[in-house]
Amino acid sequence: MEFKYIEKTPFYNAFSKLGKRIFLPDGIFYWSGRAKKEAEIIGTIGSAFAKEKDFIDGGSDEWVPCYLKDIKNYSNLHIKNIVPYASIGGLPDTREIWKKYIIEKASYDEETEKEKIARLKKYITTPIITSGVTNGIFLSCSMFLNPGEYIISPNKRWGNYDNIIVKHLGARIKSFDFFKDNKMNLQGLKEAILEVSKMQEKIVIIINFPNNPTGYTPTFDEAKEFIDLLRKMYSSLKKPIIVIVDDAYEPYVYNDDNINISLFYDLHQLDEDIIPIKLDGITKELLMYGGRIGFVTIGIKPNWTKNDDESEILKKEIENKLEGMNRSSISNCNHFYQVITQKMFIENGFNQIITDRNKVKDLLKERYEKINSELEKIDNPNITIDPNSGGFFLFINLNRDIVKATEFADHLLKKYKVGVIPIEKVNENINGIRIAYCSIDKHQIPELISRINSALKDF
Ligand SMILES: Cc1ncc(COP(=O)(O)O)c(C=O)c1O
Repeated sequence: MEFKYIEKTPFYNAFSKLGKRIFLPDGIFYWSGRAKKEAEIIGTIGSAFAKEKDFIDGGSDEWVPCYLKDIKNYSNLHIKNIVPYASIGGLPDTREIWKKYIIEKASYDEETEKEKIARLKKYITTPIITSGVTNGIFLSCSMFLNPGEYIISPNKRWGNYDNIIVKHLGARIKSFDFFKDNKMNLQGLKEAILEVSKMQEKIVIIINFPNNPTGYTPTFDEAKEFIDLLRKMYSSLKKPIIVIVDDAYEPYVYNDDNINISLFYDLHQLDEDIIPIKLDGITKELLMYGGRIGFVTIGIKPNWTKNDDESEILKKEIENKLEGMNRSSISNCNHFYQVITQKMFIENGFNQIITDRNKVKDLLKERYEKINSELEKIDNPNITIDPNSGGFFLFINLNRDIVKATEFADHLLKKYKVGVIPIEKVNENINGIRIAYCSIDKHQIPELISRINSALKDF
């Protein structure tokens, strides 16, 4: 592929050496694509095909991928939807449907809707399918971080970021305290940006709302302040700011004061080179964790190209690079679950999916309300609860002078038979426990909190 436009963008300048190097070679795909259209006998496909009757007793005359007959016991989907490879970037129809879904979710107010939706439709790439959000994180971090380079992330973050960024990629995390006075610590973020800007020509940030482990989602005011800060930083530094938006838990917001769609949308509307990358997936959003289907979608800027034709080519160039990442790591993703995703949207429609999911969301919301109200009853100066309004978790900070988080979790488990995840990072100012209320029945919550309260009194 010829990269005519991407190399002129600030987005490209922010790429890691790997990001600059990677692309999806046409070789096999070029020839197999042509053979599909032009050949009478196709010898380009690297998987076994035959007439079904030649390998299955009672099979049909149809030319299908060869399969073991028992697979039919587990699904009544046509074998062509289960057995073959999916395309490198994902099944085109599934990608298109997810793109529509992303656009559908942008609940802009009527006044601004038309303009903003038009921009969204035109200037986001068609999502590339990855193996879950985890793989999307790996892929996007690889695209921007050379070994030794920094990405900014709050101290309370999903632990796997550290595995991916530090252990796997050899890059570094510039951490900052997530909260100050029960709000997002924008001063901390600002200082982290300033510090990183002294060392590299790009700023890369990863955010995740609702957050794991705290359940924090910004209020509308906080979201605005966050965006204002990025704009100010951009205008003084003039370095591209890549914002990787981990939307694994996007729909699960339980409080009307907090943003209920991804920050990707507002970031995408900015003219500055504040470039959002949306990572989402069916794993939590459609409650199919083991389906391992995630999506990477990039918001490009209108001013990077001269006209619509050029931006269409630019999007294809970017998609090609992401496909190059897939091809060189996982090759392609689970076909079956891509088809299931597609079918769910086609057969049920967006609204039905959301209505069905709302039953689960309502359950989680009840638990969220219950657990927070039970925690409010605890009068103990040695704990604080981080602001939370969504997702699957909340976080209790423990006074380190009284007890270490791991010691507390061990005690809680041994004496009170309650399991939680301790997070203890002295260097990053964290000592506390994460409670996954997503998997605790509402009626057990008072007992859970009462046991935690009793355990606290033991120290
Ligand atoms: C913040 C966050 N991002 C991503 C993931 C991973 O999602 P997936 O299962 O789609 O890989 C998780 C899962 O625990 C998570 O908490």
